[in-house]
Amino acid sequence: MEYQLSIAEALYPHLKDHLTMEDILALLEKPKTAEHGDMAFPAFQLAKIFRKNPAQIASELQEKISSPLIEKTETVGPYLNFFLKRDMVGKQVITEVIEQGAHYGESDFGKNQNVPIDMSSPNIAKPMSMGHLRSTVIGNSLAKIYSKMGFHPVKINHLGDWGTQFGKLIVAYKKWGTEEEVRANPITELLRLYVKFHQEAEDDPSLEEEGRSWFKRLEDGDNEALELWEWFREESLQEFNKVYDRLGVSFDSTNGEAFYNDKMDEVVELLEEKNLLTVDQGAHIVDLEKYDLNPALIKKTDGATLYITRDLAAALFRHRTYDFTQSLYVVGQEQTNHFKQLKAVLKEMGYDWADDIQHIPFGLITQGGKKLSTRQGKVVLLEEVLDEAVAQALDQINQKNPDLPNKEQVAEQVGVGAIVFHDLKNDRLNSFDFTISELVQFEGETGPYVQYTRARAMSILRKAGALDAQPVEEFNLSDDYSWEIIKLLQEFPETVQRAYEKREPSVIAKHSLHLAQAFNKFYAHVRVLDEHEERDSRLALVHAVTEILKEDLNLLGVNSPDEM
Ligand code: ARG
Repeated sequence: MEYQLSIAEALYPHLKDHLTMEDILALLEKPKTAEHGDMAFPAFQLAKIFRKNPAQIASELQEKISSPLIEKTETVGPYLNFFLKRDMVGKQVITEVIEQGAHYGESDFGKNQNVPIDMSSPNIAKPMSMGHLRSTVIGNSLAKIYSKMGFHPVKINHLGDWGTQFGKLIVAYKKWGTEEEVRANPITELLRLYVKFHQEAEDDPSLEEEGRSWFKRLEDGDNEALELWEWFREESLQEFNKVYDRLGVSFDSTNGEAFYNDKMDEVVELLEEKNLLTVDQGAHIVDLEKYDLNPALIKKTDGATLYITRDLAAALFRHRTYDFTQSLYVVGQEQTNHFKQLKAVLKEMGYDWADDIQHIPFGLITQGGKKLSTRQGKVVLLEEVLDEAVAQALDQINQKNPDLPNKEQVAEQVGVGAIVFHDLKNDRLNSFDFTISELVQFEGETGPYVQYTRARAMSILRKAGALDAQPVEEFNLSDDYSWEIIKLLQEFPETVQRAYEKREPSVIAKHSLHLAQAFNKFYAHVRVLDEHEERDSRLALVHAVTEILKEDLNLLGVNSPDEM
């Protein structure tokens, strides 16, 4: 139930000759301070229509209006302020939350239409970077938000498993690597080889040529090249899966770049048919001057295809396979130009659905102010980051709750959750620096704070023997602390919608923080467990809080331990 609607309904009969329900809903505002009530209707717009001053309109409206949910109204200048019947609204909202549980806030807006989400997409033979972590967790959260909005998300891990770097890697492996070393420590060793290749190539440029020719052999299906490539891919995937398991992320498809090898000719043929290819110094390009973009390089002089060629094939494939309504690419903002080119080429090819392709960019993660780069071998290993966060979470649990039975498991949920939450709590375009110890704190704007708040709420329910929610017969809370919570619960569905519209998980993260803060204030001032006539209502409120905190965290891909 949205109380905006009841207020709009109360206003509508008196304004229906001039405004629609939508107009009224759009005009309603949330006052900045609680003393101005729960909703305000500004009368400025009506001044021209009624030829009266807004303050007079506001007070005339005030006299006419009534609604069972409205406790009282007040005018402040041109504003008509509404104060709601807190116990009635509270009862409605909490009943809905308790009845619907995890389904509260769901909508059928997306009509079950397919939305491929290109996410994570790390490069084989390299460690998964913090950037890929961002893509993974933002993509995963968007998939959950889209699903809650009634879409059918398809999570695709477009692995970087093809490209000239594999030619280089084969050269490096044959020159300086051994099978045992790669098996023992696949990613570290493959990275060492890759880095060594670049160091050696500085003095010996012929290596680059050798790398290119091995990549050509790979593209032409040479057995030795293919076997090595497949092996590197397999070993790398196993390492990536360890991280995905810890994050609780799964994919509907792991078709990477190589999957499109046999679909590349079609792209080139289509471009030729449509007369879009020009030859420039032996290379095939699509001119994009009219889009103010650099030409898209489709095929190199030696015939090798490129990243964008594979993305064109992937876009065609996804459109055919999923008949999507939107197609998302959760990829760092440094690739903005690439996705502009991709869309522009598809547009040139005459595909209107190019407009449904959305690049969802995000900012850079730095540590100690430095950009992370694999070329020089300077990377933050994601697994090490997770391990460190989990170790620190365990320390905190040992201090706060040393007798907790399943400490290791909870520490994993808290440590990993801390990293994921931190990644999602700021606008995705923000770049940030991170310090693990800060984001694992149980206080402040952290994931563990939200988890801990919910675990405390759970322990209240446990102590009261009220883990199973009861239907709310009578609800009699109208104090400010409870009201803050009720409003946040009520706002959850529109929060999900806003997160969807902005493609922004941080909207959910912020909601979870506000709800946790409101709950902690309530808990500091109100004795829930004492026997008094408000006990049942308070327990119902606490119950609703545990449900929504859990669902907030779930939409972010963060676990909610019941005890911690
Ligand atoms: N593998 C690429 C990288 O690490 C990201 C791929 C993104 N997805 C895509 N369809 N281009 O930079």
